[in-house]
Order: sequence, then C-alpha cells, then structure tokens
Amino acid sequence: MKRLVVLGLSVYVILAATVYAQNTGDTGTATVTAASMGLKDAYAGKFLIGAAGDIPKRYSENELANIKANYDVITPENCMKPRPIHPWVDTYNFAISDTLVQWCQDNDIKVWGHTLAWHSQTPPWFFEAEPSEPEEPAARPARPRTMAGNRRGPRPSMSEFWRRSITGPMASREVAMERLKNHIITVVGRYKGRIIGWDVFNESIADSGDCTTENLRTFSWYEVVGPDVLTMAFKWAHEVDPDAQLYYNDYNIEQGAVENKGKHASSMLLLKRLIDEGAPVTGVGIQGHWHLDTNLADVEQAIINYASLGLKVAITELDVTATGSNSGAFGGFGRNNEPIPPENYEKQAEVYKALFEIFIRHSDVIDRVTFWGISDTRSWRRGRDALLFDGELQPKPAYQAIMDLGTGKNVHTQ
Ligand code: GLA
Repeated sequence: MKRLVVLGLSVYVILAATVYAQNTGDTGTATVTAASMGLKDAYAGKFLIGAAGDIPKRYSENELANIKANYDVITPENCMKPRPIHPWVDTYNFAISDTLVQWCQDNDIKVWGHTLAWHSQTPPWFFEAEPSEPEEPAARPARPRTMAGNRRGPRPSMSEFWRRSITGPMASREVAMERLKNHIITVVGRYKGRIIGWDVFNESIADSGDCTTENLRTFSWYEVVGPDVLTMAFKWAHEVDPDAQLYYNDYNIEQGAVENKGKHASSMLLLKRLIDEGAPVTGVGIQGHWHLDTNLADVEQAIINYASLGLKVAITELDVTATGSNSGAFGGFGRNNEPIPPENYEKQAEVYKALFEIFIRHSDVIDRVTFWGISDTRSWRRGRDALLFDGELQPKPAYQAIMDLGTGKNVHTQ
C-alpha cells in the first residue's frame, strides 16, 4: 500500500513538474507562458473567470500573486454570509468584507457578493419573536458512529436543526420580512457601486420531491415569510443598487435538464414565477460542485433552458473532484487523503475541458465562471483535489487543458 502511495505521488510529481515546466516555458518552444498569461487572459472577451476566498488575510504572497494573475472576480467564501456579517440584531461585522473589497479594488479585481439570504449560516435571531442572546454557532451534530464505526446513525435534518436553533416563539411574517429588508438594504448599500452583483437567495430548492412544483424548502424564510420572500428580496436589493446584477444561486439545478425533470424542473418553475412577479432577476448561478461522471448533457441543456427565460447564467462555485461521486451540498463530505490514481487527473482535465467547451459555446449568456477556491488545499473539498492548482499552487493537467482551450492553441508548442 505504502509503495502504491509513493508510486502515485511520484507519478503525480513528475506530471505536475512537466505541466509546470510547460507553463513556465521551460520547453523552450512556448509562445505563451503562464507568467505572461493567466486564466482570465485566456478567456478575456468570453466570460469572467473568478475564484472564492476571504482574501487577503491569511493568504500567502504566492497565493495572492496567483489570484492576481488568474482571476477577474472574487467571491467572498464566507465573510458576507448572513451569520458572519450580521450576527446580531444591530451588529454588523464589516471588517473582513471591507478589507476584501478594498484589496480587490486596489488590484483591479471585481467582487461578487455571496449571499444575501440563505437557510444555512443565518443566525436564529432573524426568526425569533424575542431575539435570544447571540451565541457561538452550534455545529450541526454529526451522525453518531455505530459499533462498526460507520457514520450511519440518525442525524437531525436541516429543518430539525433549524427549528432547534430557534428560542421561544417564532417571529411574525412582518417582523421577519422587516429584518431581511434591513439586512439587504444595509449590506447592499454599504458596497453599492463596488460589487458587480449579488447572490440574492441561495439554495431555496429542496433535494428531493415533486419536480412538478418549485419544491422550496419548508423551513427558514420559506416557512416564516413564504415563497414571496424571494421576489421581495430581489426587489429590495435592486432598489438599493439598481446597477448590481442579481442572481438566484443553487446546486444540482442542472440535474434533470435533458428530461425536464428533477431539481432542474423545479428551478425553471421557481424562476418563471419570480419573473412573473416582477423580481429583477439578472441570472442563475449554477454552483457546479461536480465530479468525474457529472452529466454534461444536463449542464448544457440547463444553460439553454435558463437562457430561454431571458436570464444570464454563471457557474458560481466550480470544482470537479478527482475522486468520489458526491456533488452539490454534499460534495464536501467524506473528504479523505487516500492516494488518487494519476489517471484521474487526466480524466479530471478532460471533464474540465468538456465543461469549458460548453461554456464557450454559450458564452453569449455565460457571464462568469468562478472556481470555489484557488488550490487543492484552499478548497472545501480538500482531499478530493477538485481544483486546477495543487496544494503547492502548481498547475495540474486540468489547468493546462483549460488554458489550451481558451487560447485556441496548444500554448507550449509553436
Ligand atoms: C454552498 C454555499 C457556499 C459554501 C459551499 C461550501 O455551495 O453556497 O457558500 O458554503 O456550500 O463551501
């Protein structure tokens, strides 16, 4: 086993070194080098290339240089989510997001806001008739281990977990609405003109259910205010910053697009309703937490279907795991550090290339492709090596495949 690990690692190191050498022009034949051209240059005029991160604090000089070289736009990974930015009724924490926005501005990088409203990472006080004292956020309990050591015990559902977090009676619809309105007005207002757009609502659609309905989650904003909370949130955000692009963002919403079933069908119903109700929706964010066997036909059809509603599309949280078949909100689970066979990195490069071929075909409606992290260590899917750069920031085969495609040529031959 140990030998296999060493072999796997050596092959990968050779592979990474080869790719790196090619990128740096060490082959002697390069016409375009990574030093002179980053991802954003390769896709200039097609769509923006982005990455997520709560930069610049705790990022190394190398990481920041990599960001400046490759990305047009940054999505704050966590610091603008409702809990970190607005932990208590009148308390806003703008320190981290202010620094991020300023750093991006100083370095000529755009910022995408994430996320104004969500059922997760939102403090319970939003929903309590008498807001309880703020506490450290409780972690959702892990499933108890069985005797066999497998995590198969019962785990509270998201809705049970949410309900348990609420102290005392629930706030009325009006009170909860007013709180969300103030939140949106304050946060959007603070960054007006400095942020190109917002994920207004994140992950409203439940995972399984009747694809003939919107299948909204049955707790949080959807229970306390109701389905029209989305329409109102888009309108409030638009009033404060009419120039900001406003997106609905979700995972696995491409699934079922070819057959017009599943979560995709629900997302189409939801978006049609929002448009009918006059919500100023600019576009849809397909998160894109994918794996080696993701159904690419669904991805392409979803883009076509959203465009048919007159909407723009962005891929907002892209990562393709080099191992494992989980996706969406569950893509971060089961991280491990087992060796990944070198051929998986080649397959990963093929999948990334095929995805970018789709994005290029639809670049008239695709505004932005954002990776969820910058390297295999700066990733919520650590251990599954889902991004373009390894933990040492060395480009992987997937990076080269995307660069070659974007530049329309093989960058390391004449
Ligand atoms: C979802 C959210 C992101 C992030 C990821 C995990 O996709 O939209 O903000 O929390 O889960 O990193």
